[in-house]
Amino acid sequence: MSSVWASRASSSAVHGAANAASLLPLSSLVYQSQAVAPMSEPDLQRLITTSQTRNRKEGVTGLLIYDQGRFVQWLEGPTAGLQRLWQSISGDPRHTGVSVLGEATVPVRFFGANAMALGKRRADGEGRRRRRDEVGLPAELLETLRQSPQTAPSALAKLAVLEHRVADAALRSTEADGERVDVARMSLQGILDGVIVPRLVAKHAGPLLAPLVIDARAAELARLLLTAEPEAAFALINALRADGRSVAQLCAGLFEPTARALGDLWLSDDCSQFDVTQGLGHLQRALRRISIETSSADVPTLPWSIPHAVLVAPSPRESHLLGSVIASEMFWRAGWDVQCEFPDTDEALGQLVHDRWFDVLDLSLSAVFAREHSLPAMAASIRAAHAQSLNPALTVIVDGRVFHDRPSAFAEVGADIGVASAQDIAPSAMHHAKRGKPEDERIRTPLAAG
Ligand SMILES: Cc1cc2nc3c(=O)[nH]c(=O)nc-3n(C[C@H](O)[C@H](O)[C@H](O)COP(=O)(O)O)c2cc1C
Repeated sequence: MSSVWASRASSSAVHGAANAASLLPLSSLVYQSQAVAPMSEPDLQRLITTSQTRNRKEGVTGLLIYDQGRFVQWLEGPTAGLQRLWQSISGDPRHTGVSVLGEATVPVRFFGANAMALGKRRADGEGRRRRRDEVGLPAELLETLRQSPQTAPSALAKLAVLEHRVADAALRSTEADGERVDVARMSLQGILDGVIVPRLVAKHAGPLLAPLVIDARAAELARLLLTAEPEAAFALINALRADGRSVAQLCAGLFEPTARALGDLWLSDDCSQFDVTQGLGHLQRALRRISIETSSADVPTLPWSIPHAVLVAPSPRESHLLGSVIASEMFWRAGWDVQCEFPDTDEALGQLVHDRWFDVLDLSLSAVFAREHSLPAMAASIRAAHAQSLNPALTVIVDGRVFHDRPSAFAEVGADIGVASAQDIAPSAMHHAKRGKPEDERIRTPLAAG
């Protein structure tokens, strides 16, 4: 094996998987493409065999998924080798419509056990593993890749972790038969799960986010929300939804701008405070309905998770809740463990972060008004939260109109991150949150204390 595979961390080779400590930078690249003609089983086997031979020489590992005429491939390895390979792959006449979904530098191999594994749809009742270099994939994952290809980097990173878990379980179960348990591989899972995946997901998530398009009809929607009968507003929301945008895009491109338009209408004396509150209530209802309707379609149902816990709350004394409702929705859709609360005072907020471990606290101010005058009070709330937090490295995110209008305001309240738009919330949190205590120490209950 070349030095690419060398590991300082462990004496056991683990098929090169344990090169978390390799000194050479590794690159990863994920792309999708269409097969020019359907690939038969022998075609695929030939492709995989050729790929494995050359990948071994280049020190490249990965996963090639083929399903219903589409390829999605994860490649990882030393940058130079990967680039050489990419020259060949991207120009290969067997596929077309090659589009890169993500590129990142990774400090560890995700699919290090294989010079190139082949991922195929898992048949009903079939186990996850077929041959050593084949992975049976659940239909839900393939569906997610088909409908939201931009999620492929994060979905495959999670798949890698899941695969390692399964591999660990298999290794443990063979221990009884006198076979060796590979400890290095087990600890790799911890590294992947706890550190690398969140980082990689955040890296991939950033540039892959769809550009934010503010809907031109937000002002019209705001006016419709002010009428006594909100049905026309709901009809407009439904019509705008029909073009297939995600819930995040809907929140960031429509609901938040509509909330700001409501604020502008109030400022120009076109409506009352009561109208604004009522309009916001309608928006929250619409979001709730969309959330329920799309819950099974949008949210990954696969048995993987990145266990980050977030407390979402309006800043104490903030009466507008839309920001927190949207933030909860964004975190939940990104697979976070979300607790949403409405603390009246800084003491109540402090108690919440004192009683349970949270990686992140998301505090929001009004999505309608830029409440500059509320910033000192929010700063006091954040100080109180830090003083009481069970997690000494609690990451604090703030959102609301003021942080949209004046992005630097987050520093004035002592937050780690200020987000201007709903679609930045979960990726930013994932990027900044520091992990602390292990899962079983995260809840402080009387039972656990005693
Ligand atoms: C979807 C797809 C994925 C491929 N993946 C790899 C790969 O991982 N490694 C590889 O060496 N070749 C891969 N190939 C084949 C290369 O394009 C190329 O045929 C092969 O590397 C031999 O290159 P050469 O003829 O320039 O030596 C892939 C081809 C296709 C269509």
